[in-house]
Amino acid sequence: MKAIILVGGEGLRLRPLTCNIPKPMVPVVNKPFLEHMLDNLRRHHIDDIILAICYLPERIQSHLHNGSGFGVNLTYAVEETPLGTGGAVKNAEPSLDDTFFVFNGDIFSDLNLSEMLAFHREHKAKASIALTPVEDPTAYGVVETDSDGNVKAFIEKPSRETVTSNFINAGIYILEPELLELIPPNVHHMVERGLFPQLVQQGIPFYGYRSNAYWIDIGVPDDYLKLHHDILMGKAIARFPGKSIADDIWREDGCEIHPSAKIIGPVVLGRDCIIGKDARISGPTVLGAGCAIGPGTSVDEAVLWQNVKLGADVTVRNSVLGNNSSIGDSTWISDGAILSDDTVVGSSNKLEHGIRLWPGSTIQDSSISF
Ligand code: GTP
Repeated sequence: MKAIILVGGEGLRLRPLTCNIPKPMVPVVNKPFLEHMLDNLRRHHIDDIILAICYLPERIQSHLHNGSGFGVNLTYAVEETPLGTGGAVKNAEPSLDDTFFVFNGDIFSDLNLSEMLAFHREHKAKASIALTPVEDPTAYGVVETDSDGNVKAFIEKPSRETVTSNFINAGIYILEPELLELIPPNVHHMVERGLFPQLVQQGIPFYGYRSNAYWIDIGVPDDYLKLHHDILMGKAIARFPGKSIADDIWREDGCEIHPSAKIIGPVVLGRDCIIGKDARISGPTVLGAGCAIGPGTSVDEAVLWQNVKLGADVTVRNSVLGNNSSIGDSTWISDGAILSDDTVVGSSNKLEHGIRLWPGSTIQDSSISF
């Protein structure tokens, strides 16, 4: 079965984590997000996959190559300039000659894809769209269906007063190849605003497949952190590197943990991490390879990418620290702070309230004080 994954967006809302790498390559529990998606597709025998790439394409291609290392066959459809979700599918038209799946490249879901395909076939649909319930649908595309599942209306980001359903577009579709004729070539086209409303208008068989399976879009930092939380708490199922060494604690080889350090799971330690004297790591927390945690330092509900160095008596809570960031003694980082790669923060600073530091930022000692 074929699928196309849309991975060409710039991931602006996830900045600064996406300044150096595209959103599908951000690590999720120490492995690129896209690898988690491929795991899920493989489980449902979807192994012939086209990646529609545009932003930082070489970061994706140089990691995944032809997919053989990941148990799938990967090819690439490259856009010179972003063509949008529909334009990207149209760009891959020569390779799409049978029923195919389309995935947004930032969705993590346990949705039963095999069942969705059976639903599509039973209904003799030309297009099917997965629908997931959310508490506040105003930031999403709301989809109204009748009792048979026929899509009746497709409303992008409705205002609160006009919301009529809390089932939203889950960013997973099945399309018949003849629909590609409805997408104009070589122009920017969004399926959400172009193709889908057109299908509704023209009465082309278009069905909504409702599912209560786990679903999250990692497009914003809070949800990126939430996905880690949910995987480590067992709410979302994912495979990640590391061996289980105790209840809710996994680690890769080469870690050195001081006997006085406390690790309270769920915690995942990448390879070669060093945890200092009296340090405290409490979950759900993930440390990437090569992190060094200084004496007396505490890390709580946080995600550290690779080679992050924390000095003595540092506190990191509910925040994300990018590759090679270095934090001085007694600094406090909390409340959804997002530090990108290669940031250097001196000692005795307090970073909180969702502060975002761009790659290579430097903050001197005691500049943002308590
Ligand atoms: P923001 O800039 O934060 O909106 O993120 P985004 O554009 O990367 O993601 P968005 O949620 O808007 O798009 C949904 C999916 O479609 C993501 O996986 C994007 O990578 C992908 N996508 C969006 N625009 C394009 C495009 O022009 N070309 C391709 N190939 N993919 C796209």
